[in-house]
Order: sequence, then structure tokens, then C-alpha cells
Amino acid sequence: MPNFATAPTPTENFAGPVLTVRGLSKSFGNLQALRNVDLEIEPGEIFALLGVNGAGKTTMIECICGLQAHFEGQISVAGFDARKDYAKARQITGLVPQELNFDGFFQSLETVSSQGGYFGVRHPDQKARALMKRLSLEGKEKDNTRNLSGGMKRRLMIAKALMHDPALLFLDEPTAGVDVELRDDLWQYVRELRESGTTIVLTTHYLEEAEKLADRIGVINRGRLLLVERRDHLMDKFGRKKVTLRTAQPLPEELSGKLRTYQWEEGEKNEYHFHFRLDEKEPTLPRLFELLGQHGVSIMDVETRQSRLEDIFRELLQTDDEATS
Ligand SMILES: Nc1ncnc2c1ncn2[C@@H]1O[C@H](COP(=O)(O)OP(=O)(O)OP(=O)(O)O)[C@@H](O)[C@H]1O
Ligand SMILES: [Mg+2]
Repeated sequence: MPNFATAPTPTENFAGPVLTVRGLSKSFGNLQALRNVDLEIEPGEIFALLGVNGAGKTTMIECICGLQAHFEGQISVAGFDARKDYAKARQITGLVPQELNFDGFFQSLETVSSQGGYFGVRHPDQKARALMKRLSLEGKEKDNTRNLSGGMKRRLMIAKALMHDPALLFLDEPTAGVDVELRDDLWQYVRELRESGTTIVLTTHYLEEAEKLADRIGVINRGRLLLVERRDHLMDKFGRKKVTLRTAQPLPEELSGKLRTYQWEEGEKNEYHFHFRLDEKEPTLPRLFELLGQHGVSIMDVETRQSRLEDIFRELLQTDDEATS
């Protein structure tokens, strides 16, 4: 029995980033879908590309994977130019596209195994079966693909993209329409792929997934890559903690001056919202409690809420939209 343990297509003899994008711009008529994008992806990372509908995520992936030939700038995959060395670059990349990419009148197994033919995969049927099993599609091998459910079709596309063990895998919204349990399983599989050396670039609108899974996050808005950060740095740099205090009595007047160093606002009756940065080195919250205690303020309730990736994402886009409108 051949060994189907995922062993990505070798990119040996190349020590640099597995993907380098320089000055990538792409227009459709008057619409500029990508504006001067620079990006490097290191081997073995999970990179999440986030952006609202129409931001340019799919266009960028299509340029990298050779589905859009006319663009400005340079793209190289493990040192191979995506246009000049298309075949070599394509051998290294795998793509699970956002839209269905198979014919509904073919059987599931042949849809997956025939993909192996493009890349000279040995024992394609056995390999396709093993991949389908891993993606919980066992028993569906003989079904015509049009009879699979939406989530199954998406998993079938993943199996298809993995037939040639790509070293760099693009997942364009892989979990759209996949139920919660299978989604968790899919992410577990993505982690396993990464463990075995596959580099993964994914897009998702489920930001809590990116928050859990990604090593680095890129945010794209109207074709511009606004930022690329390690996920933990992003949370530290842009994250906020909101502490809401409910007090027994209104804060005394004389406190106002002393609270100048805090960012705060008044809410409902005897309710005060304080905002803290996550990367603050000073113990500002204990100092605040001390100060309130010194002024005889009794705290009845405390509620804290830490910003999630979703809040950070929304704020980033709002700031960018305000700056460019
Ligand atoms: N083939 C095309 N012809 C004309 N315009 C296109 C084409 N493909 C994409 N666009 C436009 O380019 C912009 C970026 O689209 P793209 O599909 O890259 O967005 P996206 O970030 O993937 O969005 P979504 O989250 O909805 O998938 C959009 O305004 C879209 O209408
Ligand atoms: Mg898209």
C-alpha cells in the first residue's frame, strides 16, 4: 500500500519565502481590484487574509495561482515566477477556489483522482480514496458530484486540491456552508497539514476562526493590503479592554481631575466605561480601583470585555474608509 502521508511537493534548494508578491496591481476595466500589494509568506505558516466582500482576496489568490494572467508586479512561488515559470509555480501551489470547480456529472472519486493526472501523481485512485476518507467523504466515491451537499462539495474541492501534495495551499473560504462540527474537523486537518510542512493561506469571513488558527493576519480593503501582523501582535497592538464599573453613588466631582489619565466615559446611571490598551505595561486597573477606594466610591459590579479580532477588524476598516473617503 503506498504511503499517502502528506509530504508536500519539495521546495528544497530554496530557503526564502514560499511566496513573494511585489507591487501587485490588477484592474478590471476602470475598477482597480488590487493596488500595489506587497506580501511575503514564510514556509510553514497559516496566513489568514481578511477583507469584506469585494476587497480583492479572490483576485489576489487568482493572480498567484495563475488564473489571472494580466497584472502588474511580480509574484514568485518558492523562487519560480508565477508567469514565466507557470508550470513549476503551479506544481507547488494548490487551490481550493471559492466557487465550485468541477463538473456535476462526474463521480466524486474520478473528479478527485483525475486531478492527479495533471501532476503525474502515482496511484491516483488510492490517493483520492485516502483523501476522501480523511475529509469524511467515505461512501460518496461513486456519487455524482451534483448529488453531494454543499458542505460535501467544498470538502471534495479540498481533496482535489491536495492530490499533488502542494507545499503552498490556498483555501478561499473553505468553510462557507460547512456545518460546525465538520468545520472544526476541517480546521484540525488544516493544522495537521501545517504540521506536515504545508504552508496555508486562507480567507474566511468567520473571524473567530482566523483568531484561533492563523499565525499571521493580513487585512485587505478596496484592493490595498492595510496591514500584515502576527496575530498575537495584532491583538496586543490594537486590542482594548473595556471595564464597566457600576458604583453605589455617582463619582465625586473632585475625582474628574485625577481620572484625566484614563480614557473613560459615563454610561447609564452610576455606570462608567474605562478603556485600556492590552499592551499597557503599567498596572492601571489596580491603580484605578485604589483611587476610587480612596475617594470612598463603593464598586457594586465590574464587567470586563476584551476586544476580539472582529472589533479590531471593524475599527481598522472604519479608520481606512474615513481616511480615504
Ligand atoms: N472577472 C472580473 N471582472 C470584473 N470585475 C471583477 C472580476 N473579478 C472580480 N472583480 C471585481 O474585483 C473586486 C474584487 O473582487 P474579489 O472577488 O477579489 O473580492 P473578494 O475579496 O474575494 O470578495 P468576497 O469576500 O465576496 O469573495 C470586486 O469589485 C469584484 O466585483
Ligand atoms: Mg472572494
